[in-house]
Amino acid sequence: MMTTNIKQMGSPLGARMVVNERDVDYFCGTSYYTLHGDPRVIAAACEATRKYGMGPGTVMASPPLVEVVARAACFFETESAQYIVSGYLGDMLLTQALSNDYDMVFVDDSSHYSVFDGIRSTGKSVITFCHLDPEDLRQKLRENLKPRQIPLVMSDGVFPMTGAIAPLREYVKALTPFEGGLLCVDDSHAVGVIGEKGQGTLEYCGVQGDNCYLAGTLSKAFGGLGGIIPGNNGLMEKVSRNVRIPVGASPPCTGAAAASAMGLKILSEHPEMRMQLWDNVAFMRNGLRQLGVDVVDSPIPIVPVTDLSGVNLKQVQHDLEEKGIVVAHVPPRSYSDAPDKESLRIAIFSTHTREQIGKLLASLAKLL
Ligand SMILES: Cc1ncc(COP(=O)(O)O)c(C=O)c1O
Repeated sequence: MMTTNIKQMGSPLGARMVVNERDVDYFCGTSYYTLHGDPRVIAAACEATRKYGMGPGTVMASPPLVEVVARAACFFETESAQYIVSGYLGDMLLTQALSNDYDMVFVDDSSHYSVFDGIRSTGKSVITFCHLDPEDLRQKLRENLKPRQIPLVMSDGVFPMTGAIAPLREYVKALTPFEGGLLCVDDSHAVGVIGEKGQGTLEYCGVQGDNCYLAGTLSKAFGGLGGIIPGNNGLMEKVSRNVRIPVGASPPCTGAAAASAMGLKILSEHPEMRMQLWDNVAFMRNGLRQLGVDVVDSPIPIVPVTDLSGVNLKQVQHDLEEKGIVVAHVPPRSYSDAPDKESLRIAIFSTHTREQIGKLLASLAKLL
């Protein structure tokens, strides 16, 4: 059912697109390279659908599904990967696959819903630690683990509303006294975006290793759809042994797989797109700082504006929209990591022009 405040697309997604029958500058969502609207991605989805049909409904793998796994393994430099219908299920797949390898889960209390649903499905004890707080994690590990029990630490790599990066290096240090301790991150907002090779938060924080795992998505930066869990053959064997998702759920449809494969191909072949994204992000963050807004220096394209006394951010969002600029307003505590106070969530894309970002900054200068 439609309601009047739900925005309708009138064109493929892009930095400039049609929303509610108007051309606008678009600064929302998670398609950080706007690959969902890229003609190459759209053509790949259409061609594959014509050639192989929709896809689900058979036990056979369509060539685009096979291609996604091969391209993902290449992108993440792993032996293989699991490709499933959603990133949401990826946390469940990963924590179930590893369930014989840990006793208790320690999770950042503002982690995504998919992280909590995933770890609850394992039936293990779950202890929360304070958001982004390695010291609290250390204390919780000390207080709760019995001798020889093995912990799994879990968190979003990058948080969806604030763009905060989890301090993974500190988490790995906190795990060192506990032999066999594991780290798993939901890296949906980081894969394709951060790290020199775009491999996500583990790469960015320099903690890639045998006991560190990620569950990502191809539904955001890569312009496709579906969960991606890169790993070595040992992890894939554990998936076959312990997880029913790959055999009990339909795979992504053929068009979505072909789009995802094309997104992986484009981001692999064009690392300069990442540089362009980081440049745009730096331009936006510097611009906001010049307006007196407190934003951290970070390559993350999720730029939050929050906690400005005397400013009604819902009104700011509305006034921007009048000028043809669309940003998201996030009410307090309205999402897994949404802060206690209202905020604007501004998504920066590699395809935004300097003029578009400059116009947004100039408009904010008048409204904040
Ligand atoms: C942190 C996080 N994890 C998982 C998901 C789910 O990913 P998908 O849309 O691929 O199911 C989202 C979706 O927004 C997310 O923000």
